[in-house]
Amino acid sequence: MLIQKPSEILSSAITPKEQYVNRRRFLRGAVGVGVAALGAERLARIVAPGREVFAGTKLQTVKSPLTTTDEDLTPYEYVTGYNNFYEFGVSKDDPARNAGALPTRPWTVRVEGLVKQPKTFDIDTLLKLRPLEDRVYRHRCVEAWSMVVPWVGYSLSEFIKQCEPLSTAKYVQFLSYYDPRIEHWGREETSIYWPYSEGLRMDEAMNPLTLLTFGLYGEVLPNQNGAPVRIVVPWKYGFKSAKSIVKIRFVKGEPHTTWNDENSTEYGFYSNVNPNVDHPRWSQKTERRIGLPFYAQRKTTLMFNGYGDQVAYLYNGMDLRKNF
Ligand code: MTE
Repeated sequence: MLIQKPSEILSSAITPKEQYVNRRRFLRGAVGVGVAALGAERLARIVAPGREVFAGTKLQTVKSPLTTTDEDLTPYEYVTGYNNFYEFGVSKDDPARNAGALPTRPWTVRVEGLVKQPKTFDIDTLLKLRPLEDRVYRHRCVEAWSMVVPWVGYSLSEFIKQCEPLSTAKYVQFLSYYDPRIEHWGREETSIYWPYSEGLRMDEAMNPLTLLTFGLYGEVLPNQNGAPVRIVVPWKYGFKSAKSIVKIRFVKGEPHTTWNDENSTEYGFYSNVNPNVDHPRWSQKTERRIGLPFYAQRKTTLMFNGYGDQVAYLYNGMDLRKNF
């Protein structure tokens, strides 16, 4: 999130370093510059071991009317080799290298807060709750890169119905797995307060596009992509899509969220993809599509990442000129 491609940033947009970074964050940025030089060949080598672990773990899927793009898919090697999962390190290739340590079975998701009754769901029960759909979505990171990913899952709303939230529940909070004995990279390299926490307003969570995600490319999620279950919210910047979820809490007020806690002026709670509101340190007008030849990478960023028809109504009356 604090990693940026220097060539994409106007010098006028650069805040003096001491104003926004501490020593650890500066280290993180330095690592990122190295990652930019990572070649496809190297990525493929890093990803290979992870793929073996999951080889053959196909998911039975059905086509979805909510597949929203016919753009070329980002190759598997990039989707699973260029990741943000800070619990496993801050370089883009760290999660593929380190996330094998994540114990994805047994796995439960605890549901609590403003619900009729707290419940615990086993991952294998969740997998069978609804037919698993193939959903191709654009995936836009706040760092101004993007992918097109064929996710596998079903609408989060289907799961929320099973949770029986009370009418007083206005927001949903998602908490990621965190065990510092296993995920020690992020602890040393960042100042994040773990576990990773994200949240949505209840109506955003209930929008059919919000995906409870179990796989990609027709297979079980690789650990680096947030196995065994994550959220995908395609009209928001990628950091809203929490990985490896162990707890879902229904709450009355806006829950605290990791990147908003880190820097509320740079990462708003809503963080809808919005080309008209630049990040304080870089432009959001365009994005770099990962995996394409250099000359074809630059794409115009679309309002709500192109999902305005399905979600713009959620923000009626809100000022979209602000990074809220
Ligand atoms: N979830 C957790 N638990 N930890 C993280 O560091 N990074 C977020 C999001 N979910 C993150 C997370 C960010 S910044 C992005 S862009 C997406 O995951 C990246 O998802 P991907 O690696 O599958 O592309």
